[in-house]
Amino acid sequence: MTYGKEPVVEMQGITKRFLDVVANKNIDFSLFPGEICALLGENGAGKTTLMNILFGYYSCDEGKIFIKGEEVSLSSPRDAIKRGVGMIHQHFTLVPSQTVLENVIIGAEPGRWLLIDKKSAREKLIRLQKKFGLLIDPDAEVWTLSVGERQKVEILKALYRNVDILIMDEPTAVLALAEIVELFKTLKALASENRSIIFISHKLHEVMEISDRIVVLRNGEVVAERKTGETNVKELANLMVGRELLERIEKKEITPGERVLSVDDLTVLSDRGLEAVKKVSFSLHKYEILGMAGVSGNGQKELAEVLFGIREKSGGKIFIKGKELKDGNPHESIKRGIARIPEDRIDTGLLMDLSVEENLILEVHSTPAFQQRGLFNFQNIHNFSETKIREYNIKTDNRDAPTKTLSGGNLQKVILARELAGEPIVLIACQPTRGLDVGAMEYIHARLLEQRDRGCGILLISEDLDEIFLLSDRIIVIYEGRIIGEADIHQATREQIGLWMSGVEEK
Ligand SMILES: Nc1ncnc2c1ncn2[C@@H]1O[C@H](COP(=O)(O)OP(=O)(O)O)[C@@H](O)[C@H]1O
Ligand SMILES: [Mg+2]
Repeated sequence: MTYGKEPVVEMQGITKRFLDVVANKNIDFSLFPGEICALLGENGAGKTTLMNILFGYYSCDEGKIFIKGEEVSLSSPRDAIKRGVGMIHQHFTLVPSQTVLENVIIGAEPGRWLLIDKKSAREKLIRLQKKFGLLIDPDAEVWTLSVGERQKVEILKALYRNVDILIMDEPTAVLALAEIVELFKTLKALASENRSIIFISHKLHEVMEISDRIVVLRNGEVVAERKTGETNVKELANLMVGRELLERIEKKEITPGERVLSVDDLTVLSDRGLEAVKKVSFSLHKYEILGMAGVSGNGQKELAEVLFGIREKSGGKIFIKGKELKDGNPHESIKRGIARIPEDRIDTGLLMDLSVEENLILEVHSTPAFQQRGLFNFQNIHNFSETKIREYNIKTDNRDAPTKTLSGGNLQKVILARELAGEPIVLIACQPTRGLDVGAMEYIHARLLEQRDRGCGILLISEDLDEIFLLSDRIIVIYEGRIIGEADIHQATREQIGLWMSGVEEK
């Protein structure tokens, strides 16, 4: 890190309002050459807004921005890129039907796309790839690439435009473990070339690993700044959340009870007709959290969808409390006592245009308490939704607010409140805390343990090893659609689970 040098970016007194929300309040922020600076904060803290201002995507209501010593007025991302600022968003902006090379050069020289010398463009791309470890076939079409590879294309696209200030908005949220390791290598290589990086995250361990300096935002304000070497995860968590986190959640020892779910030789096809789940067998008991570890994309989604009743199996059987479960019917799954936390909150978990209340009663609206002879009992419905909003501390203006106005952590709380209302026998929780901040994560973990202690059997599908080790009573690992290993929590080691996750089987 190079303090003492002039900052490459200096933002002074930045304020940004959205109607009645003050997303950024009088923020001062500097970035130095060759440093990796983490911007840490809970969902809604104002991180993305501040960076969208630096990227010329939003204008600020008050404040000044200096880039490389010169005061600038950025009215579009194009202005920002001209000054060397690039931003990689959480949602990618690539054209799927075009190749890596085409995506990299589109728009790099406005109006001149057809005139670009493809040969020298390719050479420049390959030079950048080698230098920063971003190896992907320049002729591959983007739709064939994994999420991690697409992110590399985004980085290449920025570097191709000679960006030396790179903003990455929660870049690891979508990556698998191995891809995160590669990304970090690339970021370090960029910093050692004197480029500066702003790394947005709410993951404390990552921030500790990758950054030189950490700026913590809370409720739109900078609440602290630390050199990474002079702080620790606990201090950061407290700064970020603004209160002491509950000490490590306590997990009681309970002996598992009767078998509540058994899966026998289950085979499931993917959308492309390939075997995504191959003759998988396991069982889950009352009072038990069975952690299914694995890098995502190894059949977890297809397996969960069969249990949810939204995909048909091609072989094998599923039993709930010894009675076979018919597949391809979500109502049947719910009726048999299966609660579901889907991997994708927004696409399959919630109807974003409906109100918070409507989402809360989605699965119970036809029960006698809420509906009789076709008439809704609004009093009961309102009581139910208001109780749930209070009980789960769901931050929303009111029960009628559109669900899409909620933050990620609060969306997940709506799903939990809804799914756990019926005291399920089995809970299938898929990546339940992915993308959530520590406060929300801790809350969800506490609720899951509460359900287990009540007697629910929980299948916890997660690629977060911290989460798996924190919550599970037993761990199985899925790899390429098969269960590759199993261990009791008291015997399991991170090394062994990590090896299984990468496909290394025991001799
Ligand atoms: N385009 C927008 N319109 C209205 N409110 C917004 C908009 N973008 C962000 N906000 C609000 O500003 C606050 C900060 O959001 P954001 O910068 O996205 O936080 P973070 O990236 O730290 O999660 C939140 O309350 C959010 O709801
Ligand atoms: Mg954000």
